[in-house]
Amino acid sequence: MKHFTIAIDGPGGAGKSSVAGNIAKQLNVLHLDTGAMYRAFALTALERGLDIADEAAMAALARRIRIAVRFEGGAQHTLVDGRDVTASIRTPEVSKGASDVAKLLPVRRLMVNLQQRIAKSQSMVLDGRDIGTRVLPNATLKIYLTASSEVRARRRFEELTAKGIDVQYETILRDVIERDRQDTTREIDPLSVAPGAVTLDTSDMTQPEVEQAILTMLEAKHMQGGTAAKAQQPREPLTLFYRLAMVLSRIVFTLLVPVRYHGLENLSLEAPFILIGNHQSMIDPFLIGWKLRRWQIRYLGKKEIIRNPLTRSIYQNMLMIPVDRHNMDMQAVRACLKTLKEGHVLGIFPEGTRHKKTLMQEMESGIAMIALRGNVPILPAYVTPKPGFFRRIDCYYGKPFSVHDLVNGQVNREAVDAVMAAITRRYQAMAAAHAQTQA
Ligand code: C5P
Repeated sequence: MKHFTIAIDGPGGAGKSSVAGNIAKQLNVLHLDTGAMYRAFALTALERGLDIADEAAMAALARRIRIAVRFEGGAQHTLVDGRDVTASIRTPEVSKGASDVAKLLPVRRLMVNLQQRIAKSQSMVLDGRDIGTRVLPNATLKIYLTASSEVRARRRFEELTAKGIDVQYETILRDVIERDRQDTTREIDPLSVAPGAVTLDTSDMTQPEVEQAILTMLEAKHMQGGTAAKAQQPREPLTLFYRLAMVLSRIVFTLLVPVRYHGLENLSLEAPFILIGNHQSMIDPFLIGWKLRRWQIRYLGKKEIIRNPLTRSIYQNMLMIPVDRHNMDMQAVRACLKTLKEGHVLGIFPEGTRHKKTLMQEMESGIAMIALRGNVPILPAYVTPKPGFFRRIDCYYGKPFSVHDLVNGQVNREAVDAVMAAITRRYQAMAAAHAQTQA
């Protein structure tokens, strides 16, 4: 087998380390536990009595410290300045410290460099938070391993008590939730589902099942040859009408309404997912949709339109889902969930009617509910300014984000609000980034 890498990311306690270890064993390659390296750094800071919140002190430590890994009989030993710290890095204090130091750029740079160097020369399985997004964006296979916070806390609790460490389940659960919050919201390389990653929720899976699933995916990748060209092939037959719309879109968005596209690398994620966009013009679905050539996007559209026979036939040929925007349309919600379950891409403009004044601040809550119930990532597309003839505009695709980890898999009012707030934040960040390019 030629050189390959498997990136396993996900929140703490999802079982990454043991799954990665077992897979590596079966494939006869090494497993690099990158969390251990952040832990070794945090342990050193704590031992030396340094203040982890003191960024200058942490940057200075990052310049001096020598972190290394050594493998003995396949097992990883993590070393700081030549001293093996493997036995001391699993305490709750070090877990918290690792998450704290992992926010800092000098620390992340040090670790990412080291990890890239280690994985360059040999096939490996790596687990962490940013492997698929930062360390190895071209990994052969990317997995996002997750589980509910309760399941993860229970596993951590059992792991620690088995080692004779005295801990309370409630404390661990609180730590798990806090660490998730910190890992998913930090500015630099937050934990997120990497483009092209396959999400596995292990709450109701046994470890051998998870491992088998990953090994089967790797085999499938090798059989495919994993070429980018193949990845661009449509995954399903597109309707004639849709293909026509794609051809026209290419002409329109190159010549008539020239668009500069950014973040195209974010389009390599696997369906099902939800593509969302800010809504300013009738051509928005084509503008944000035609670059995703592998799928026929199922857009949600207002129900009023199906009364007219011509537009009704467009709806049918485009496989659109009609929605009654003025009432809680449960039929539409069910249709959306079914579409996602069948592995398709849903296209939604959460602002409902075309909007000019605010940016993703007034949304229909249906989008959040569908994302939560369907448990699929959201891919945000931001178009600015409003499309017009012969005026160059920009379209940004943001990093896809998983709603599950935002709210620990719960579906309630708070979760819906959290998802909508996350959407608003992302659009504000994209708008701010765009404004900077204009300054
Ligand atoms: O996976 P583990 O729990 O050992 O990781 C400890 C901490 O290190 C995590 O909470 C996370 O903040 C950080 N980490 C990271 N990037 C990685 C691996 C771990 O930020 N690749």
